[in-house]
Amino acid sequence: MKTLQRTFTIVKPDAVRKNAVGDIIEQFEKNGFRILAMKMLEISKYQAEQFYAVHAARPFFNTLTDFMSSGPIVVLALEKENAIADLRKLMGATNPAQAEEGTIRKKWATNIEHNAIHGSDAEDTSRFELSFFFAGYELAK
Ligand code: CMP
Repeated sequence: MKTLQRTFTIVKPDAVRKNAVGDIIEQFEKNGFRILAMKMLEISKYQAEQFYAVHAARPFFNTLTDFMSSGPIVVLALEKENAIADLRKLMGATNPAQAEEGTIRKKWATNIEHNAIHGSDAEDTSRFELSFFFAGYELAK
């Protein structure tokens, strides 16, 4: 029996500024992800701080949250078997200098901070991240 899993992703402000949204969404679909929900929005510095609260003690927290509130982002709820791990594989390493050929970050990321895309890293974080951006009715599919 197939067990579908959900994950959450953000096309970050750098990728939106590069007009990479269409290409990245095409890669989700070509790699078997179903788009459950999607929206383009801007978040405030405070909202970015809440979303990335697990990184609050990190030295990059301030620049990360400045960057994530610097322009439009596109947030998506995706579904497939093994979605969390498969999305992370498709994204490539956090630092694009280490990202494999054929990954989204290899193609679109500029550096470790401006790295084009975010994806949930585990089931508990995906639940938190999906519910941060989507209401229950938007995911009731
Ligand atoms: P993301 O998957 O959105 O999760 C946290 C983000 O913090 C990460 O992608 C990077 O954009 C950023 N990040 C992680 N490590 C570093 C680092 N060493 N320096 C700057 N930014 C980082």
